[in-house]
Amino acid sequence: MTDLKKLLSQMTVKEKLGQLTQLNARVFIDTQADITGPLLNLKLTKEDLTTVGSVLNYWKPSEMVAIQRQHLKDDRNKIPMVFMMDVIHGYRTIFPLPLALGCSFNTDVVTECTKMAAREAVAGGVQVTFTPMVDYVRDARWGRVMESCGEDALLNSTMGAAQVKAFQGDDLRNKENIAACVKHFAAYGGADTGLDYSPVDISEHTLREHYLPAYKACIDAGVEMLMTSYTAVNGVPSNANEWLMKKILKDEWGFSGVVISDYSAVKDLVEHAITPSEKEAAEIAFNNGVDIEMVSTFYMSHIEELIAEGKISEEKLDEAVLRVLELKEKLGLFEDPYRGACETDDSEVWLTEENRDIARRAAEECAILLKNDGTLPFSKDVKKVALIGPFADTGDIIGFWACSGRPSESITVKEGLRRLLPGAEIIVEKGCGYEFNDTDKSGFAAAVEAAKGADAVILCLGEPQDYSGEGNSRVDISLHKIQLELAREIVAVNKNTAALTFSGRPLVLSELDETVPAILHMWFPGTEGGNAAANLLFGEVNPSGKVSMSFPRATGQCPIYYNRTKVIRQGPTGPHTKNVASFIECDMTPLYSFGHGLSYSSFKYESLELSSDKMGVDDKVTVKITVHNESDVPGKETVMLYMRDVFASNARPMQQLIAFKKLHFEAGERRTVEFTVDEPMLRFWGNDHKKISEAGEFEISTGYADHLIHTKSLWLEK
Ligand code: BGC
Repeated sequence: MTDLKKLLSQMTVKEKLGQLTQLNARVFIDTQADITGPLLNLKLTKEDLTTVGSVLNYWKPSEMVAIQRQHLKDDRNKIPMVFMMDVIHGYRTIFPLPLALGCSFNTDVVTECTKMAAREAVAGGVQVTFTPMVDYVRDARWGRVMESCGEDALLNSTMGAAQVKAFQGDDLRNKENIAACVKHFAAYGGADTGLDYSPVDISEHTLREHYLPAYKACIDAGVEMLMTSYTAVNGVPSNANEWLMKKILKDEWGFSGVVISDYSAVKDLVEHAITPSEKEAAEIAFNNGVDIEMVSTFYMSHIEELIAEGKISEEKLDEAVLRVLELKEKLGLFEDPYRGACETDDSEVWLTEENRDIARRAAEECAILLKNDGTLPFSKDVKKVALIGPFADTGDIIGFWACSGRPSESITVKEGLRRLLPGAEIIVEKGCGYEFNDTDKSGFAAAVEAAKGADAVILCLGEPQDYSGEGNSRVDISLHKIQLELAREIVAVNKNTAALTFSGRPLVLSELDETVPAILHMWFPGTEGGNAAANLLFGEVNPSGKVSMSFPRATGQCPIYYNRTKVIRQGPTGPHTKNVASFIECDMTPLYSFGHGLSYSSFKYESLELSSDKMGVDDKVTVKITVHNESDVPGKETVMLYMRDVFASNARPMQQLIAFKKLHFEAGERRTVEFTVDEPMLRFWGNDHKKISEAGEFEISTGYADHLIHTKSLWLEK
């Protein structure tokens, strides 16, 4: 054990500020060759650099090892740096995007994937990951929806907490684990119009009920770090937002881990026009509890002076530094600063058969069968398959922000089909490209020709993986016109067609839904995407994913989400309807709601029973839902429990998920699933800024979102 307090007492203020500074690895690497360039831009000297406490974004573990080795030679205190990276959906073996993981409704899947990512990341020299991202999302125009688990606070919280536990395990010294950093506090997902980095304007009520719970769930799960958001929330950037950072994060939630800014977000306080001064930006962020400044160096440049002026207390500085040192101690860095990093850049724990297997099973469990008129599953007896579309034969299905994952190592749909159907002829025709402005139809004729004689046609459509993720906002999330035209021409010659769709956000698939008999949505499924797709299409595996974020009918419906309060005066869709709530062009509901997802099994929800229709605040009511797999196909089903507070002092959502369980059903099996309802599940953020419940009627239902069934009344008595 290192005596951290003693160590702290030996450090100069400059050295302490180094611990609160995180720099990009390039600064250290390029500095070996040219000590003036990058350092000069950051206003740092070579001596300053020896004090820096953490590094992000190196490319290879050998770089990490080299940087650490040099640092330990140069730093007179011999304090190891801590290395951080974004391991979002896998390190080298890539599994589906978080938005897809949400669709699994299965924490076992998330846990297995995350543990695998942690093992691989350790070999990659990663000690802390900037995951989970639990920003609650409602607007699919925002490219970063791919990093979240969707539009429900319970789902987001459950998946976020599962990731934290799986990354960190019980003991951070164990070299199968890494520390997690929940982000982006707070409400980055509320970016206005879906435009990345744009301000967020939401009521406290909505923040408390929908946006904040998942960060809190991660804190309750023991997350070591928290990253602030770039954006301004109700006018105040997170790094300056006392209400968020002090009142909620520290006072209410008691978060005692390390807080880090987002990439140069302390500097952004100047861009946000909160202050013209770098020095004041440092003062504001530090005094709001931002411990580590990522990438910009205002802390290093100004905090010493701010201490001398009495604007920052040295005691607070010591507390922040101690938090960072404690994290390093927990990770065992003082004993082993490399912590399992593979210096040869070729680790035997990467991309193993076992890891591929985990990634494939996850991809299978996250895919959603959006539509099926009976076309799927295809028979494995097919002799000739036409595989058409821009995603038919590409490794670019691992998704944005795939860390060290390589498209060249991923299984394409074509490869997946070849493996599953060794005897079948598989004709591949791209048909068209996947860019939004592609108009080149020269590939159509060959695609149509291939479809004509095929026993099964698979149309691989979607938007490119780099259209989602940070900085990728869209004004139109419809499947691109040229792909729709291709689909129409293909279906005209062969009805035995299924679309396999890829994207990092919910797309508008209304026209595709009208055109093709079946749609299987893969999101970006990761390294084993092609194998998973083949297994699902041909019935080796039964789809079981459920929508984690609503698919709108038209982009103009965004933001759209299932748990909205009642829209009053609803009227018929169409023009010339006066004084009613309706859209002229389309229905108000999503095309595919949260919770939607078909299966090759046929599940009948037979009943929902309550142990009592009344409860007091200390009571618990048991809900029993009986579900019958009426088919001869075994499969998994997510049984969901919803509630609605019928009358309340604050307009309540028309439906709100309060529990879910994913279960396996054998062919013909009937199961009764039990849930417990208690008073805290019925609470909401009241008008007097407190969480409360109100006596009265609650509706308890199953089914999903706007397809609720078996609704029963439960009366809360006070
Ligand atoms: C992103 C964060 C990420 C950080 C470090 C930022 O641009 O917003 O999510 O963790 O970069 O890579």
